[in-house]
Amino acid sequence: MDQATRLRTIIKQNQVAPANAARVMTVTSGKGGVGKSNVAINLAVQFKKMGQRVIIFDADFGLANIEVMFGTVPKHNLADLVYQGKGIRDVITWGPLDIGFISGGSGIAGLTNLNTDYLNYLVSQLNELDSIADVIIIDTGAGISSAVIEFLVASGEILLVTTPEPTSITDSYSLLKALKHNPRYNSGSSQVKVISNKVSDYKEGEQLYKKLNAVVQRYLHLDMSYLGAIPEDHELSKAVMQQSPVCISNVNAKSAKAFDDISKTLMDIPHERSGMMRGMAGFFANMLKSRNV
Ligand SMILES: Nc1ncnc2c1ncn2[C@@H]1O[C@H](COP(=O)(O)OP(=O)(O)OP(=O)(O)O)[C@@H](O)[C@H]1O
Ligand SMILES: [Mg+2]
Repeated sequence: MDQATRLRTIIKQNQVAPANAARVMTVTSGKGGVGKSNVAINLAVQFKKMGQRVIIFDADFGLANIEVMFGTVPKHNLADLVYQGKGIRDVITWGPLDIGFISGGSGIAGLTNLNTDYLNYLVSQLNELDSIADVIIIDTGAGISSAVIEFLVASGEILLVTTPEPTSITDSYSLLKALKHNPRYNSGSSQVKVISNKVSDYKEGEQLYKKLNAVVQRYLHLDMSYLGAIPEDHELSKAVMQQSPVCISNVNAKSAKAFDDISKTLMDIPHERSGMMRGMAGFFANMLKSRNV
């Protein structure tokens, strides 16, 4: 049995009923520093307030973002699960409002080389996430590295954060181009949803989306939708300094209201996907497939 077949067998054996699988969304951007981690954390807070159980998966291989923003340091990361035999519950750190987070750390990089026993264990543990969380938000590092593209290809929902800065728009385009050209990307089942961040008003946010969408439709023919805008807000920067999500520390801030709107829009969108394995284990299966395991 080759590795790909083995992987599929393992996933099948462990698969949870699709109805119970968590909704997995990946937050990304072309350019760094445009607000991904803030989007991930504040949407998590809003989903939590709506009664969803939420886990943030910090897949930034370089700098751990989420723990800094939550002011909580995790004891373990995904590598400990795989190599030290920890259980999935051991690698979840519970932050404010009981939002869980998992640090991917260096654990993700070695996943392609796992033998059957390790894979079996990883998948069974990840499947448990589906009984712990309703929504899993993945915060990626910036840029068009192949690791990020693999995450996007495997993800059911892609939240693309962009800002009015010209370099942010061109970098968003480059990211979408790399995504579109990935042979495993299926635009029919993986949807890109755009968030305009750091805008001066809602009109600017919409114009930004229209501008990006016009070029994308013309040259890439990739389906996107607009999720909404988050204004440039001093209260958000202040919250970052205080290591507390703005949606917790200042619910009346204009950015907090924008996150509230966007989270409601997201919850109203149907997210069923055809032909892709769902849930967190399904997500990793999709990702490992894209690496030709
Ligand atoms: N809407 C906003 N209003 C004001 N400042 C913002 C806003 N969004 C983000 N920022 C500022 O931008 C900084 C970077 O945000 P964040 O860390 O969320 O970006 P990122 O895309 O995750 O960065 P990286 O690529 O380094 O992971 C924050 O520290 C914050 O001060
Ligand atoms: Mg970040």
